[in-house]
This record gives sequence, structure tokens and C-alpha cells, in this order.
Amino acid sequence: MKILESSYEVMITSQEIQKKVIYLADLINEDYKDKNPILVCNLKGAFIFLSDFCRCLTIPHEVDFMSTSSYKKGMETSGIVRIVKDLKTNIIGRNVLIIEDIVDTGLTLNYIKKFLALHNPLSIRVVSLLNKKDRRKIEVDVDYIGFEIPDKFIIGYGLDYEEKYRGLKYIAELIDIKNMDK
Ligand code: PRP
Repeated sequence: MKILESSYEVMITSQEIQKKVIYLADLINEDYKDKNPILVCNLKGAFIFLSDFCRCLTIPHEVDFMSTSSYKKGMETSGIVRIVKDLKTNIIGRNVLIIEDIVDTGLTLNYIKKFLALHNPLSIRVVSLLNKKDRRKIEVDVDYIGFEIPDKFIIGYGLDYEEKYRGLKYIAELIDIKNMDK
């Protein structure tokens, strides 16, 4: 599917995002004092959130990256998740904080949680900037949520449409998708 013409409308401004990032980081600063959490960033979408978020943390922490892929036709997920890149860090006995940009159907997060649990961490919790609760296909706990958002296709602040728009400072709704070449 090729997008030939599109436009977008700002849903969450850069200022609103930055305020929320500080709010979430403050919760973690409090809850993870003396726990030296390892932040597990699921690429690619969460890379911008992670970089802003970890710079607002005042507690000792570590960062590692993993990458999952779920084949998506246009805007719909196939539901099949696979690990593309594993962690470098040994997480046995560690307090893991999964950092996500968005939880949508919940399939990716559910898969990641089960995968990480196999490595016997002390705890696993989730920080997600965005949550699309109405879209869940599987029940999965999200411990720290930035914004609850409606079922709209969104881009920016790490989120893409066909690998474009990740660098936008704000989050926007993609609208007027015309002339789709299927
Ligand atoms: C996005 C996002 C989450 C996942 C959420 O990743 O970063 O990991 O989708 O969707 P779900 O709850 O329906 O599973 P995506 O697979 O688009 O890859 P990307 O982060 O590399 O863009």
C-alpha cells in the first residue's frame, strides 16, 4: 500500500508530551529509588520517548534495547510477533521497566513480557507513553500510562506511517489518506 497524499492534525503537543514525560519519570524516581531498574526500550517506536524519559530520571538506571516485529499490512497488525533483536543485558534478578511508545492491541507487549519473564527478572513493569485501550485483543497490564488516546492512526514522536514522520516533535492524527495504491 503506497500513500500518495496525506495530512495530519496535532493531537498532543510537544509541551504536553514533555510535561507528561517529567510526570512519568517522577513516578519512577519515587517507585524505583535504590532499585537500579533496567529500562528495556522496544525499538523502533519508543526510542524518542526513552531518550527524553531517561534524561528526566534522577535515580541510577541502565538502558538496553530490543526489537520486535509484527507484520503489518497498512495499519492493521497480523498479530504475529517475533523478536528481531534481543537484549545484551542479563536481566536475572533485575527490576525491568519496559518502555513503550504505544500499547494498541497489546499483542506486542504481551509477547515481550512473556519473553522477558523466561529470563527470571525480579520484576517486570511497563511504562507506555500512549495507550489505546479500546483496541485491545489481549488483556495486558500497563503500569504507567502517559495518555489514553482514541482509536485514531497516529504518527510522530517515534511513531511512524511506513517509516515516515518518526521525527515529529508532537503526536498527530494522520488524516485524509487518499489515493491509496493497494
Ligand atoms: C508499535 C509500537 C508497539 C506496538 C504496539 O511497534 O511501538 O511496540 O506497535 O502495537 P500492539 O499493541 O498492537 O502490538 P511497531 O510494530 O509498529 O514497530 P516500530 O516500533 O518499529 O514502528
